[in-house]
Amino acid sequence: MSRTPPKLDHDALVAAQRVTLGAPKRRCSLAARALFAGMDVIYGRKRTLSKFKVLELIARVPYQTWEQVAYVAVTHTHRRTDLARRIHERILDARGQQDNELLHLLILEERIARSGNHESRLKFFWLPQAIAYAYYQWSWMLYVVRPIWSHRLNADFEDHAEREYMQLVAEHPEWENEPFESAFCADYGQFDSLADMFRQIGHDERFHKQESIDLIHRARFR
Ligand SMILES: [Fe+2]
Ligand SMILES: [Fe+2]
Repeated sequence: MSRTPPKLDHDALVAAQRVTLGAPKRRCSLAARALFAGMDVIYGRKRTLSKFKVLELIARVPYQTWEQVAYVAVTHTHRRTDLARRIHERILDARGQQDNELLHLLILEERIARSGNHESRLKFFWLPQAIAYAYYQWSWMLYVVRPIWSHRLNADFEDHAEREYMQLVAEHPEWENEPFESAFCADYGQFDSLADMFRQIGHDERFHKQESIDLIHRARFR
């Protein structure tokens, strides 16, 4: 069964934000730090919805690589049914997380469209595709050579995303009184405010991070 992040109520979301902002930063790999620094150079250090959209476009990529590699593994291992079933469970996990990231992306896209802000097509359409393509190749290669490396890179990325979302909410106190109205409420959920919806996304990123950390630990102690 695919595991999806739990939905939290207002109090739990506020507590989750406090935990994230009070926790030390994860010690990230050089590759992850280079990616975050590169994004700051291209998109600026300011937290904007457009920059988060780019983050979400890239966030889906590792799950796609894991899913694809796992399907190929099933092709090779289907005669060992227990192993094939375990691999398929990983596929369901990767798909669940990928779908969750997709909803983050669509919600952001919707909000950006409503804001009427103009986005450069080069910076916010073509360039993110190129970054996602490069990240796909890198993530795929790490996963094929040593899955733990790919999971570690993803944990770095998710840790960054979790912190960025929680800081974004802290920077927008006006969101506490703004309702979350979206065509994706039925898919993603109802929240007391826009602030809570973004806190929930931040908590989803923490869940994704923890899933990757669990995979690292399982691989280490197998
Ligand atoms: Fe996300
Ligand atoms: Fe995520």
